[in-house]
Amino acid sequence: MKYYILTLFPEMVLQGLNTSIIGRAVDKGLISMEAVNIRDYSKDKHNHVDDAPYGGGAGMVMQPGPVCDSYEALCQRIGKRPRVLYMTPQGKVFNQSVAQELAGEEELVFLCGHYEGIDERALERIVTDYLSIGDYVLTGGELPAMVMIDCISRLVPGVLNNHVSAEIESFHDNLLEYPQYTRPEIYEGKQVPEVLLSGHHKKIEEWRRQQSIRRTLERRPDLLAEAVLTKKEEMYLETLKAERGGEEE
Ligand code: ADE
Repeated sequence: MKYYILTLFPEMVLQGLNTSIIGRAVDKGLISMEAVNIRDYSKDKHNHVDDAPYGGGAGMVMQPGPVCDSYEALCQRIGKRPRVLYMTPQGKVFNQSVAQELAGEEELVFLCGHYEGIDERALERIVTDYLSIGDYVLTGGELPAMVMIDCISRLVPGVLNNHVSAEIESFHDNLLEYPQYTRPEIYEGKQVPEVLLSGHHKKIEEWRRQQSIRRTLERRPDLLAEAVLTKKEEMYLETLKAERGGEEE
């Protein structure tokens, strides 16, 4: 996977993603990241890339020329026109299934705006996807781009050492992940659940699925509408709901 980030703050994105798992994935050549400084495409003698909004109002708007030119120069150089993801609170909210879909691409361009945003004509010309990381407003698109790059990268084969871990984690089957325990067996008087010490893999798996269902019901009941459950698990969920219904009365 090759990521290209169009930004006014290239070092912010590159420095933020060069450690730990993502840093190692870059070192191993599984992913690559290149930041393009939009300011390099300014035609202004003071290197300006923004100006006041037509019609008045607060703040500055990024001009269309440098944004489009930075993308076109990139396309020329790599001989492709990758999808352009514009980071905006007005976009579709990014989630695990959007990440999964994007992980299938060979290249992705992240367009990061700053100030009051980017001139609409540049967006109309180059943007293919409008994406948000949630219903709140940040000062720029760099953090959202970093969030998405982190999330997409761990779906690229080989990035996580552990093949299965991307599959049985939170949001798989639209359920939250089960609780995890490690040594010591007793911590401050609290014992690790007995079943996990049993060595009985089938029972452990069943217990974990039940914990996932219980946890999702408690913490994110909205996810259950789309959860993928067996008949037996559906019955388990119904008993949990009945128990909880009882508590509320
Ligand atoms: N830019 C500013 N806020 C944002 C958000 N919530 N998601 C994506 N891009 C943004």
